[in-house]
Amino acid sequence: MINIAVLGYGVVGSGVVEVVKKNEMSISKKAGEKIAVKRILDIRDFPDSPDAELITKNPDEIFNDDSISIIVETIGGIGAAYEFTKRAFQKGKHVVTSNKELVATYGPELLKLAKDSGVNYLFEASVGGGIPIIRPLSECLAANEISSIIGILNGTTNYILTQMKKEGRDFASALKSAQQNGYAEADPTADIEGHDTCRKIAILSSIAYNEFVDYKNIHTEGITKITKEDMQYAEVMGSVIKLIAVSRKVNDKIFARVSPVIISKSHPLANVEDVFNAILVSGNAIGDVMFYGRGAGKLPTASAVVADIIDIVKHSDNGGRNVWEKKDYNNVIDIGESETRFFVRAATENNKEAKNRIMSIFGNVEFIKLERPEFEDEIAFVTMKSTEKDLSAKVDLLKEADAINGIKNIIRVEGE
Ligand code: HSE
Repeated sequence: MINIAVLGYGVVGSGVVEVVKKNEMSISKKAGEKIAVKRILDIRDFPDSPDAELITKNPDEIFNDDSISIIVETIGGIGAAYEFTKRAFQKGKHVVTSNKELVATYGPELLKLAKDSGVNYLFEASVGGGIPIIRPLSECLAANEISSIIGILNGTTNYILTQMKKEGRDFASALKSAQQNGYAEADPTADIEGHDTCRKIAILSSIAYNEFVDYKNIHTEGITKITKEDMQYAEVMGSVIKLIAVSRKVNDKIFARVSPVIISKSHPLANVEDVFNAILVSGNAIGDVMFYGRGAGKLPTASAVVADIIDIVKHSDNGGRNVWEKKDYNNVIDIGESETRFFVRAATENNKEAKNRIMSIFGNVEFIKLERPEFEDEIAFVTMKSTEKDLSAKVDLLKEADAINGIKNIIRVEGE
């Protein structure tokens, strides 16, 4: 019998307890041992919960209990979760987590500590919710040199963008619905400003390139500036707007970025909708491989956590998993040096003059016109490919032009 303890009885933690109980028989068969939740730690009271008698507010009841060998950390954040994870390793207990913020922040230290303690630290649920991606990337694709990863890694923002596009819903009501479904972070700022996606691409990149990629060095933009009007432009361009995370190995450095991107409807990520996530990985032996599934939510995420628990039960002596080497320099390429195309919308009352100015600054561009009265006082175009530094300097020049009354939005265009 393997006893586990769950730290944090929120959406994911309660999902883990539910899945362990619901699939008890099949899990025992696959793991080769019976797995039971012995204790749940939470500072809140849950008098009506079916698990009420397992819940404690005292961490000592878990850490001092030698019969508990696996800790599930679903508290989130980098405060108590960090301390409890270290304490678990010191006590010789394995840890399974869905906490991407903790893994992205303290991955190198915690993986090393786990290895030194002869225990496992597994985090399949930290990226892509229920989608198997961490284990495939670190084990099944281990024979490859990974050249790039591109993905939709946040269910909440993909849900919001889908609702805005297909149902014409406004941002606030779509966000509320994502929260009610248990997709969003406790503070949804992390979702809508792209921070959650940033941590996830940092984790995937650290595994893929076998060196720590610090999320703090990754250029990150969220979806709060995306409007229904931008989506109408994307539509006439035969494209959609998605929050895209990308990372690429470029010689001995890594390019990584999180931002809304206009992508062609023929792109493999364009039809990934609602809470679904998808990750496209390119390796030098496999070519392209794509992972798709529910990227957030109680049971999909619990599914990944419980799979990690089963993995540990089957291979409990396998504390020697990879650690992430931390470089003593910034291994992420400056965003200004990367190349892209910009879609630019600018306000103008003099379309002809604005057009001339745009062409004199940017050279060859593609103008996009929406023949509707509400778009009459603006001009939109897509630039040629150039470095971000160069394009930003040109946008600054455009802002100064007499015929331009302000920039309405700038969105990257990729993958056509
Ligand atoms: N808030 C996250 C999302 C949860 O919406 O994708 C899963 O990591």
